[in-house]
Amino acid sequence: MTRTPKTFHVKSFGCQMNVYDGERMAELMAADGMVATDDANAADLVVLNTCHIREKATEKVYSDIGRLRKYGKQGDGGPMIAVAGCVAQAEGDEIIRRAKVDVVVGPQAYHNLPRLVADAAAGTPTLDTDMPLASKFGALPARRKVGPSAFLTVQEGCDKFCTYCVVPYTRGAEVSRPFAAIVDEAKALVDAGAREITLLGQNVNAWTDGERGLHDLIRALDRIPALARIRYTTSHPNDMTQGLIDAHRDVEGLMPFLHLPVQAGSDRVLRAMNRSHTRDSYLTLLDRIRAARPDIALSGDFIVGFPGETEAEFAETLRLVDAVGYAQAFSFKYSPRPGTPAADMDGQVAAAVMDDRLQRLQTALNRDQHAFNAATLGRRCDVLIERRGKLPGQWLGKSPWLQSVHIVGDHAIGDLIDVAIAEAGPNSLRGTPAIAQAA
Ligand code: SAH
Ligand code: SF4
Ligand code: F3S
Repeated sequence: MTRTPKTFHVKSFGCQMNVYDGERMAELMAADGMVATDDANAADLVVLNTCHIREKATEKVYSDIGRLRKYGKQGDGGPMIAVAGCVAQAEGDEIIRRAKVDVVVGPQAYHNLPRLVADAAAGTPTLDTDMPLASKFGALPARRKVGPSAFLTVQEGCDKFCTYCVVPYTRGAEVSRPFAAIVDEAKALVDAGAREITLLGQNVNAWTDGERGLHDLIRALDRIPALARIRYTTSHPNDMTQGLIDAHRDVEGLMPFLHLPVQAGSDRVLRAMNRSHTRDSYLTLLDRIRAARPDIALSGDFIVGFPGETEAEFAETLRLVDAVGYAQAFSFKYSPRPGTPAADMDGQVAAAVMDDRLQRLQTALNRDQHAFNAATLGRRCDVLIERRGKLPGQWLGKSPWLQSVHIVGDHAIGDLIDVAIAEAGPNSLRGTPAIAQAA
């Protein structure tokens, strides 16, 4: 039986690169004649764009497939289900064995999605988890309509092999896209409505094209007239070059925000994680970055309960947090991942101990986030309006430091407005137009 899908829905989990991939898959299927729908339960084809980073994320795929089979489009054998993303890469065959899905496609093969869907429509599940040498990007349609803040993947994969992490296996080796292709895509995004572009990569600051580094790319993008803001994420401490630090001092469009994960505060744990930086080298690096851009907002990722982590070692993470004063951060309980070295290490930490450490860490991080927000009280800054707020006349945008700012007034999505910060909560700010302030 052939059941050619007419409508589709893409659901992305995990990191911003998956969000970007989800947008590109949607553009690809639209170019192939399918129509996007917001309602997963009404779509002929649902693409689950999955994340493998922690066990919980992975298990979610299977519950989502079950839910779609039960509540999704009925008749004709139910919805077609395509599993994309990092779980597809890591567990391709197992997904087909364990669940009734039609297509499995990895992060480096999704340009083949329309063909895989057409083949599966004939009745047999299809799988493509190849990591071809030729990049998928050349086979994707041009960017069309985007919001004021857009993502642009410039680098993929990871060669760092932190002992807890699946990314080097699910995304493959570090690969940079060519300079010219990125500049072209950035211009297309700006023509399609973007005023801010966030450059993405698992190790975005490892981006290179011959002699050029990420700072050269940032300086080139800063010359696109209608592009007001540039951001990049995620960076590795060891790829933070002097050129990039200098760009934070010199490039007006480069926002004063840096996500620079450290993971833990103890040198023994960092070594066991294979992080290849120390507590001191990280803190010294932050000093150099802050010297170049004193108002920079810092963000990080933390793992608690890495195998063998003692209470004293965890306390070093808390002390590092106190020393840095992060503007925001993500923190996770260690999750053993099949096939990674840490999963087989001695000294796996009990769940209750991890819960307790995570709670203490998050208390400290929330305190610092609130303090950072409070420190912007009374400051003037520009805010890029991204969407409507919940209340009438209310809008939601981002400050240069990536804080959410609520503003009431006669604005529009994509406006960049000058505001004064009037109120600072733990998770968001309230701004008033700076001109009204002066009047
Ligand atoms: N390339 C990026 C992001 C990697 S994944 C980087 O190196 O910063 C995002 C975050 O997930 C990591 O920074 C880490 O804090 C967390 N993470 C990765 N593997 C994990 C695991 N097995 N258990 C818990 N958290 C993990
Ligand atoms: Fe994972 Fe480490 Fe690579 Fe980040 S640097 S993606 S944490 S292996
Ligand atoms: Fe998850 Fe893959 Fe991103 S594992 S965090 S979706 S790179």
